[in-house]
Amino acid sequence: MAHGTPTPITARKSGPLTGVAAVPGDKSISHRALILGAMAVGETKITGLLEGQDVLDTATAMRAFGAEVVQHGPGAWSVHGVGVGGFQEPDAVIDCGNSGTGVRLIMGAMATSPIAVTFTGDASLRKRPMGRVTDPLALFGTQSFGRKGGRLPLTLIGAADPVPVRYTTPVPSAQVKSAVLLAGLNAPGETVVIEREATRDHSERMLAGFGAQVQVERTGEGNVITLVGQPELRPQVVAVPRDPSSAAFPVCAALIIEGSDILVPGVSQNPTRNGLYPTLVEMGADIAFENPREEGGEPVADLRVRASSLKGVEVPPDRAASMIDEFPVLAAVAAFADGVTVMRGVKELRVKESDRIDAMARGLEACGVRIEEDEDTLIVHGLNGKVPGGATVAVHLDHRIAMSFLVLGSASERPVTVDDGEAIATSFPIFRDLMNGMGADIA
Ligand code: S3P
Repeated sequence: MAHGTPTPITARKSGPLTGVAAVPGDKSISHRALILGAMAVGETKITGLLEGQDVLDTATAMRAFGAEVVQHGPGAWSVHGVGVGGFQEPDAVIDCGNSGTGVRLIMGAMATSPIAVTFTGDASLRKRPMGRVTDPLALFGTQSFGRKGGRLPLTLIGAADPVPVRYTTPVPSAQVKSAVLLAGLNAPGETVVIEREATRDHSERMLAGFGAQVQVERTGEGNVITLVGQPELRPQVVAVPRDPSSAAFPVCAALIIEGSDILVPGVSQNPTRNGLYPTLVEMGADIAFENPREEGGEPVADLRVRASSLKGVEVPPDRAASMIDEFPVLAAVAAFADGVTVMRGVKELRVKESDRIDAMARGLEACGVRIEEDEDTLIVHGLNGKVPGGATVAVHLDHRIAMSFLVLGSASERPVTVDDGEAIATSFPIFRDLMNGMGADIA
């Protein structure tokens, strides 16, 4: 993403939020729809695609590999795919901007085609570890040449004669799992990924939807996912559901802004994604899960959320993977709770768009909140409704850090400014308008 002059944004204490928060399409599912669409033979039609910068960068990348990707209207796209193994060699560097999901999934998708591809990204993405993906891809026969620690810019030379792989993911990561499965598409035989802790399963669901043979077995050692290689993927009609990670921001704002009462339609209840919601309910949140149904192959419900008095809780570590992107906003909400909120088993937060434990800890301290942290833990001492605020917080090119502090500033005593709000456009371009439309004061 082009990154020019920083754009500070300030949130001031607002009156009650009311109305409907229709958040945009799911980022994880949007990336996957474009990539699998590009690997199918024929035309995939997508509605509800997230038009955030991360996903737009993936669309541009798929064009560079030879797919025809066309926008027909807001959220309505088509992808004319080239088939499994049909990627052409891009004639320029693939720039995935801020997106770890984009770059890691695309690396997997090209890793078993005999082409050379150089990847890069913005200053945040260039700091993030890629060895977690290039290590398993090497087992297929893919070569990689990156900076120290496998960092971007990095060149991959896809395997000309790939072999199938059996791989146990060393960290709970849907990106790693998905990269291996996408690579397995163009390898003969069965590729197997074993994950000890379940992570979001959008790839498995969508691969099956596109006609791949994919089987998930729940065993004592974790989920064993088996993919039969070299299928012909059939183009699909994909209706992308709304993003539960984006929904988390209006939901959490409504809980801490006095008098709020909002409706957030179509929030995923996929158990690999929805860990924030049981956590909020345990904290005493008044959330009604209305009208449960299926949308775009995902279980969803409409959430009616009313302002609530919250208490601190201990989040079980085995829930972490199902709410990994929601810890920053949970930490913001925890500052308003009565008592201490303990988040353990969260060290993966240190390798997201920023070191999110550090970014939240420093920002919360600046806003007058006491925190404790270690490598794998964040503890927030809640102030029972009265958070001082009155600080400018560094967001380190991290959209979720920016939005979390704007939520916090909407309920704190004094305004909170984020030093650069530009990154919000990676996942939730309409965040400010949507929040202000419900009564927030974010400018
Ligand atoms: C994602 C997986 C998660 C998550 C990211 C999206 C995905 O990352 O944090 O925002 O779409 O697969 P990890 O796989 O690194 O946990």
